[in-house]
Amino acid sequence: MRIMRVTCPQSNHLGGLPIRVLRTAKKYLYALGSAIYMFTLGMRHTRERMHVYQIADWHGYPSPVPTCTVPEVEADEISDPTTAIELRHPIGVDGNVPLAQLVVMMRLIRTHDPQGIFEIGTFDGRTTLNMAANAGSDARIVTLDLPAGQIQDAALPTDVGDSAYSEKAASGARFKGSPLASKITQVFGDSATFDFGPHAGQMDLVFIDGSHSYEYVLSDTENARKLLRNGKGWILWDDYGIWEGVTRALNELHGTNPDYADMLHVKGTPLALIQFC
Ligand SMILES: C[S@@+](CC[C@H](N)C(=O)[O-])C[C@H]1O[C@@H](n2cnc3c(N)ncnc32)[C@H](O)[C@@H]1O
Repeated sequence: MRIMRVTCPQSNHLGGLPIRVLRTAKKYLYALGSAIYMFTLGMRHTRERMHVYQIADWHGYPSPVPTCTVPEVEADEISDPTTAIELRHPIGVDGNVPLAQLVVMMRLIRTHDPQGIFEIGTFDGRTTLNMAANAGSDARIVTLDLPAGQIQDAALPTDVGDSAYSEKAASGARFKGSPLASKITQVFGDSATFDFGPHAGQMDLVFIDGSHSYEYVLSDTENARKLLRNGKGWILWDDYGIWEGVTRALNELHGTNPDYADMLHVKGTPLALIQFC
């Protein structure tokens, strides 16, 4: 590899102003532009909203997202760090799960070898593709997505931020054309009204990542239970501690429903999970 030589400027003044001051001013201007974006167009993106919440939190405003009350667990406690996994499309976009979460999920899939996997919320199919890459050769993945333009007709209340992810260009674009697509069945509909019947009792792992409202998370969880084979297997939820509705629903399930007493929150990620044995 060729290493470029960098020549340091002789003078640390430019037109009478110290370069340090100019650099700081440039950075402040950049931050100002970013803040204007964050408070306007950026509000459509979770990451930008999270920054706004962080600013409000920093200045003492109570966060709209409830405090997580599900017990935390280290990723390495629930998945062996030496598990070899395949990572497809490591670079995500807003709407995909964080890389650390993807790694934990793929470790779980490699370790527990679920034959039936159901995902609620396909989006661009990055997680679907990775699940297909790490599941056994006979495993089948079904992924459900709400077609673009239908969020306003959803049967249950949605979160105002849901629309940004519903208007994706092509649902499942990341697995289209991949040889792994033969393991994936793509289905469309609203998870509140979708007929899960044909898939009931056939899944070993369900990943819930559709609408982020409290009502949808509870409804999707109820459906996920019906999908599990003999009532056994894993339910995974994305966005715990990130979205108000998801966090409130999971806090409530864990705190009030004995069925969910063993729910765990994977430390450093927005992943919550439970294994029904
Ligand atoms: C955050 S994205 C999912 C990200 C994806 N699971 C991943 O890991 O990359 C949420 C997806 O759920 C879909 N969705 C929202 N409401 C839904 C509903 N009621 N039924 C089914 N899918 C829904 C959205 O259209 C969007 O594609």
